[in-house]
Amino acid sequence: MVVKRDLVTESMNPYEKPPSQSVKSFIYNPETRAFMGRTASSWGKIGLFYLIFYGVLAALVAICFWGFFQTIDPRRPKWQLDRSIIGTNPGLGFRPMPYEDNVESTLIWFKGSDRENYNYWVNSLTTFLEDYKKPGNTPDRGTNIKICDYKSLPNPGQVCVVEVRQWDPCTQESYFGYHKSSPCVFLKLNKIFGWRPEFYNDTAGLPDNMPRSLKDHISHLNATDSRQLNTIWVSCEGENPADQEHIGPIRYIPRQGFPGYYYPFENSQGYLSPLVAIHFERPKTGILINVECKAWARNIIHNRHDKLGSVHFELLID
Ligand SMILES: *[C@@H]1O[C@H](CO)[C@@H](O)[C@H](O)[C@H]1NC(C)=O
Ligand SMILES: *[C@@H]1O[C@H](CO)[C@@H](O)[C@H](O)[C@H]1NC(C)=O
Repeated sequence: MVVKRDLVTESMNPYEKPPSQSVKSFIYNPETRAFMGRTASSWGKIGLFYLIFYGVLAALVAICFWGFFQTIDPRRPKWQLDRSIIGTNPGLGFRPMPYEDNVESTLIWFKGSDRENYNYWVNSLTTFLEDYKKPGNTPDRGTNIKICDYKSLPNPGQVCVVEVRQWDPCTQESYFGYHKSSPCVFLKLNKIFGWRPEFYNDTAGLPDNMPRSLKDHISHLNATDSRQLNTIWVSCEGENPADQEHIGPIRYIPRQGFPGYYYPFENSQGYLSPLVAIHFERPKTGILINVECKAWARNIIHNRHDKLGSVHFELLID
């Protein structure tokens, strides 16, 4: 006789509850009065443990942050000059910047007779100069702003305005000269906290590679107003002999350099870097002109590869 084994009863452990019931009793078991497998007092203990554990953790994090912020001043960088990665040699930059879709490009290319065409450059400069046109647009309403001069220097905490409105023809109203094919390009020295320029404020000891015209300009000032010698000089030239021929006369507005009274930059509220507008009065059209501009101070080293102390761009006017 075949023993018919009852598969159902055999596989079933009499002490095991069907799955649906075990889930329910896991959530709440009325026999032991345990919730999720733990009784109320067990939950209380583990809750207390985690409360203390995370409390201590949070306190440690808070102490770390507090200690970190003790070493930080929001207006002064911790690592300055030689100790910082930016170093002590400022870079020179130009505006307007070429189209953003080509970050490598340094070409200012436009058609002076086509408004649609040169508008990009005019708008780009207008946007760049917006901050300069409303000095004092800071939380303290510009109470520390001063109109400086070589004779009236700023006091500590004061910042000097950069009066770009008066730089005709390098103004928005005159389309920065682009509509007359005599464009303005603005130069700006990168800000380095606490950096003090060492001026070429002496007609002796000017470097050999300084352009003749700049040396003449310095001697002229030496004779007329020697206070103005405390300036970071700027020079722009055609890069190659052909470029020098095509570049035409250049004007520096308002002067051929960055006045010393804008330095050092100490992150005072409302500080804006000084600018020099380079006005190319009659550049040759229809040909690419390579331009190189340099900033001159004893502690500015020119390194074209690292874009330090000098800047290169090209002009192409159709
Ligand atoms: C020349 O510049 C240096 C700083 O580079 C400054 O200490 C010195 O007073 C300046 N000389 C004059 C005559 O202003
Ligand atoms: C520059 O000015 C100083 C004093 O003002 C004078 O002694 C010196 O001869 C001048 N240098 C030149 C080249 O004119």
